[in-house]
Amino acid sequence: MTRRPLIAGNWKLQNGLDASTSLARAVAAGIDASTKPEVVIAPVFTALASVATVLRELEGKTVGLAAQDLHWEDKGAFTGEVSAPLLTDVGCTHVIVGHSERRQLFGDTDERVRRKVEAALRGVLTPIACVGETLEEREAGLTLEVVLRQLDAIATNLHDVSRIVLAYEPVWAIGTGRVAKAEDAQDVHHAIRNRVRELAGDAVAEGMRILYGGSVKADNAAGLLSQPDIDGALVGGASLDASQFLAIVAAA
Ligand code: PGA
Repeated sequence: MTRRPLIAGNWKLQNGLDASTSLARAVAAGIDASTKPEVVIAPVFTALASVATVLRELEGKTVGLAAQDLHWEDKGAFTGEVSAPLLTDVGCTHVIVGHSERRQLFGDTDERVRRKVEAALRGVLTPIACVGETLEEREAGLTLEVVLRQLDAIATNLHDVSRIVLAYEPVWAIGTGRVAKAEDAQDVHHAIRNRVRELAGDAVAEGMRILYGGSVKADNAAGLLSQPDIDGALVGGASLDASQFLAIVAAA
C-alpha cells in the first residue's frame, strides 16, 4: 500500500499572531495540488483562528491546521483548557497529542494521552500522537519497551485506530540538532508498525502513517523519508522558516 506522506510543522510557543499568519502565507505559497505530501501547520492556540482564515482565503491550497494539544473532555469546568469541538470550530483538522514537552513539562501520562487521542477521534480531528524514549531510556536499552508501552496505551481500546497518525520522536533528538540515524529510526518505525499490526490487523498497520520527529532539517530529511516505514516528519525548529520547511516538504 502507498501511504501519502505527511509533513507537519510544530511551531510550539514561538510565533505571535503576525508572525504566524505571515509564516502560514509563506508556507501555503509553496504548496499546490501537485505537492506530494499532506502538509499541516500547528501555530499557538491564539493564532489558530487567524491562520485558519488565511488558509481558507487561499483557494486551491490545502494546508491542514493543527492545534498543539487539547483537553480530553469536550466541555465543563476546566479553566484554561481547549477541547476538540472548539478546535474544530476554529478550523483545525489535526491535533498533536502527547508531545514529549507535554509529557515531561506538563504531566501528560500515557493515560492522559490516551484520553486526549480518544477526544480527538470523537470529534473530527486527526490526532498526531507522539511517542519516544529519553536519552537515559535509550542508553539503558529500553527504547522499544518505552515506545511500545506508549503505543499500547494510545492504541488499545480506541474505537478508530485507523484515524491516528503516529509520530516517533526520540526525546534526545528534539531541538538538539542530534537527529536519529535513518536506519535506527527505521528500526523503531518498523517495530511500531508491527505492534499496530498485532493490535489492529494488516490493513490498519499498512495504512497507518508513522512520522519521524527530532531535529529534522532540509539537509537530513531525504535520508529519513526514504526509509520504508517513515511516512513523514513532525518538524519543530525548521518549520519556523518557510524555505527550510518547504525543502523538507519537497524531500518527501
Ligand atoms: P525539532 O522539534 O524539529 O526542533 O527537534 C520536533 C518536535 O518537537 O516536534
